[in-house]
Amino acid sequence: MKIEGSVALVTGANRGLGRALVSALVEAGAAKVYAAARDERQVLRGDSRIVPITLDTTKPDQIAAAVKKANDVTLLINNAGALNSHNVLTMSPAELDADFRTNVHGTLEVIKAFLPVLERAPGGATIANVLSLASLGSFPPLGGYSASKAAAYSITQSLRPELKKKNIDILAVLPGPIDTDMVRDLQMPKTSAADTARGLLAGIVQAEEDIFPDPMAQQMSALWNKSHKEYERAFASF
Ligand SMILES: NC(=O)c1ccc[n+]([C@@H]2O[C@H](COP(=O)([O-])OP(=O)(O)OC[C@H]3O[C@@H](n4cnc5c(N)ncnc54)[C@H](OP(=O)(O)O)[C@@H]3O)[C@@H](O)[C@H]2O)c1
Repeated sequence: MKIEGSVALVTGANRGLGRALVSALVEAGAAKVYAAARDERQVLRGDSRIVPITLDTTKPDQIAAAVKKANDVTLLINNAGALNSHNVLTMSPAELDADFRTNVHGTLEVIKAFLPVLERAPGGATIANVLSLASLGSFPPLGGYSASKAAAYSITQSLRPELKKKNIDILAVLPGPIDTDMVRDLQMPKTSAADTARGLLAGIVQAEEDIFPDPMAQQMSALWNKSHKEYERAFASF
């Protein structure tokens, strides 16, 4: 899909990758960008095309209100994500639940609610779900989070044939580490949020079903294609 002229909605748009996506969308010529955040006062300002919107993706009433307000969306980017659950032996059930609530249920409920809007998009619509390389193989220090991102990848695949019939592409975005608050404490090479956002939009333009938006993701994608077992072992050894 073309970004130019699109009407996008980005969840979790107040910081990190979401904030960078709002900038990149405006830069690439989007007609309007709904910047959705739990606290809409925190989203980027300064361009009349940016429309702040309140949205906690785990709150059905806020999802319904967002659909009413953003009833012309053609590109939905499910970026909101949570990282509460780490090592699977030491995490609590509540931490795992918290990640599944946002990363799996929140993403799916937002998609379901926006389907009538996306179906009406002239020329078709696109949904991009921001997942992770951990969707394809667990990163044990973030084992619970990895499980939630794997589940969200599976749901993305489940939706693809259904949505195809409605002229909606659904794409999985599988980034490597991004330099944001989420992984502030992890010592490893990271790509900037701005570069990741640009890579993500390039993948949307190409309608890639699996978007690897940064150099590490592209490298890991090659390993995944070569051997799923080698991929698993590489992640386990980081
Ligand atoms: N950072 C990485 O290395 C990395 C790698 C691969 C994939 N990802 C994915 O990239 C996406 C963006 O993450 P990030 O790195 O930008 O992390 P971040 O800086 O921690 O930002 C997370 C964003 O999600 C929002 N959010 C969390 N739960 C939400 C909910 N229930 N409803 C609405 N918004 C919610 C946060 O809002 P508040 O400010 O209100 O908390 C914040 O805007 C996530 O899906 C993440 O899993 C990140």
